[in-house]
Amino acid sequence: METIVKEHERKVEICYSPALFPVYYTNKDCVVVVIDIFRATSAICTAFQHGVKRIIPVSSVDEAKEYQAQGYIAAAERHGEIVEGFDIGNSPFSYMNPAFKGKEVVLTTTNGTKAIERAKAADHIIVGSFLNIDAVCRYLERKNKNVILLCAGWRDRYNMEDSLFAGAVVHRLKKNPIFKGLADSSLAADHLYELAKGNLNDFLKNTSHRNRLARLNLEEDISYCLQENTMDLVPVYKGNALVIENE
Ligand code: MLT
Repeated sequence: METIVKEHERKVEICYSPALFPVYYTNKDCVVVVIDIFRATSAICTAFQHGVKRIIPVSSVDEAKEYQAQGYIAAAERHGEIVEGFDIGNSPFSYMNPAFKGKEVVLTTTNGTKAIERAKAADHIIVGSFLNIDAVCRYLERKNKNVILLCAGWRDRYNMEDSLFAGAVVHRLKKNPIFKGLADSSLAADHLYELAKGNLNDFLKNTSHRNRLARLNLEEDISYCLQENTMDLVPVYKGNALVIENE
């Protein structure tokens, strides 16, 4: 159902799967927040916090290999694991490396980079994670446009962690009177976040990707990605890469 909003009010909707993006993306003049909490968008934010200059998201391993052959640091993950022949996978901890400072990285992941690809016709695309949540909300308030919170999910299916983050954003934005147009998709996620806030890890204990990562002995990644507000930055998609804009 189309959410009816007055001229000066802004609409906030949550697209729970990249496969549904065309349904939600009906007007270019919006900000799309790409979300992949475990772990692509958490890793991207961490990379910029540790001095990486640009990140080029690509959808396929072959594209990433082409950049790697040109000397780029190449990060490739599939099903939670590092793809053979690549420097790193998708752990945020991989970017805590002084050697990456000032460098450019090419990145391909199972879902996160595909979500960016699906959204790239939009004029404003940013990357959101719990780590930079307040910076994301401040950005959305400054832009004063309709918002689509795009959950990467898992292979076009719903996941809980991305929805929880989207709910946490709605929980913050709804306090601002310009964001009156909360769609049902936003109201649902806000209620979900109300149930989980303060205990996200426990709330997610039976979810599929969290347990896939736990089976790969990546519990540290899980805890790290669920920290709130550890960095004040917003990666923005410009041209074919993610960068930090000097505002
Ligand atoms: C994804 O892109 O689906 C995830 O980030 C995969 C992962 O890092 O485990």
